[in-house]
Amino acid sequence: MDKFNLTEIFKWFHANPELGFKETETTKKIREILVINGIDIVETNLSTGLIAVIHGKKQGKTVCLRADIDALPIQEETGLDYASCNTNVMHACGHDFHTTVALGVAIRLNRIKNQFSGTVYIAFEPGEEAFDGAKHILGTGVLKHVSEFYGFHADPAMSIGEAGIKVGGVMAAVDRFRIDVKGIGTHAATPHLGNNPIVALSSLMSDLQNFAGREIPPSEPVVISFTHIDGGTAWNIIPDTAYLEGTVRTLSDEVRRTIRESFHRIVQGFKDITEAECELQWIRGASAVINSASLCNTAENSAKEEGMKSVNFIPEMVSDDFSSFTELNEKAQGLYLKIGTGKGYPLHHPKFKVDPEAIDGAVSFISNILYKTLS
Ligand code: NI
Repeated sequence: MDKFNLTEIFKWFHANPELGFKETETTKKIREILVINGIDIVETNLSTGLIAVIHGKKQGKTVCLRADIDALPIQEETGLDYASCNTNVMHACGHDFHTTVALGVAIRLNRIKNQFSGTVYIAFEPGEEAFDGAKHILGTGVLKHVSEFYGFHADPAMSIGEAGIKVGGVMAAVDRFRIDVKGIGTHAATPHLGNNPIVALSSLMSDLQNFAGREIPPSEPVVISFTHIDGGTAWNIIPDTAYLEGTVRTLSDEVRRTIRESFHRIVQGFKDITEAECELQWIRGASAVINSASLCNTAENSAKEEGMKSVNFIPEMVSDDFSSFTELNEKAQGLYLKIGTGKGYPLHHPKFKVDPEAIDGAVSFISNILYKTLS
């Protein structure tokens, strides 16, 4: 399949975006392209998304390339002639690019399958934005013997021909928390007869925000954001209860654990001081995406051969459920790359665009990495 066709395929995906777990037409299209190209599809119970497989000439290791396929609830404002046909749905995170590139890689590897050993799965993951698409793919059981997982993301901060290759944490772990304080309600004029949960929460908030500066080494990226606070009904009533929500983002398992433990400790200490009931709920989300040094090395070699410029990027504190794949078993390694898709508006912006010129280079670069690891 030549470049023109992949560009046409990309434009079709871009024009026909579907939200997470509703990617019916997207899945049909992926299936159609795989079938035309003689690539095997693993039959699973997935209602959207699918897994393709390519077997090399001999037995060898099993690897997986994952591409997410879902779009976002955003009204597109790019003005492109192949802009979204679906109101309030847009490929504003480049998953149309991911899907196209993964198809390109599948086609290319299928053509040269007599030249490598082992098995490559190409997983087209539904519902990544909702954070549990990976669990659906993993739930099929198909990927249980995979020892290397590969993923990538379009990057509008990089030019075409640039690839972000970085050892270690590249996407953050995302945890959520909620703190409920139960005090004693009373008249605003008689605070001494009650126990004001709003005052308690406000000082708890500054303790939680400040502790990272004291307990976490400055070299470790940490975000603690309070995003929702609620309590009370009127200006002259001290309420019974109030609550606070927010998120913690970290790039290492150790820092993640320290923060969770410290939150529990601080909330417990606060309970003792204020005599209010404080309850902390810690809701664990996606883990950090950690790149293996040896897979980064393979990517560096592939970049050299394919004329891609390797760029060391600063990790962002956003997340990707790609980490669920490498958590599958202790030995599984992961590599998550950034691919320059032309500088412009950021991801999730209604004017975000991928330059289709980036497709071909990305297909060659990623195909070469997989080829190298299976040779
Ligand atoms: Ni994305």
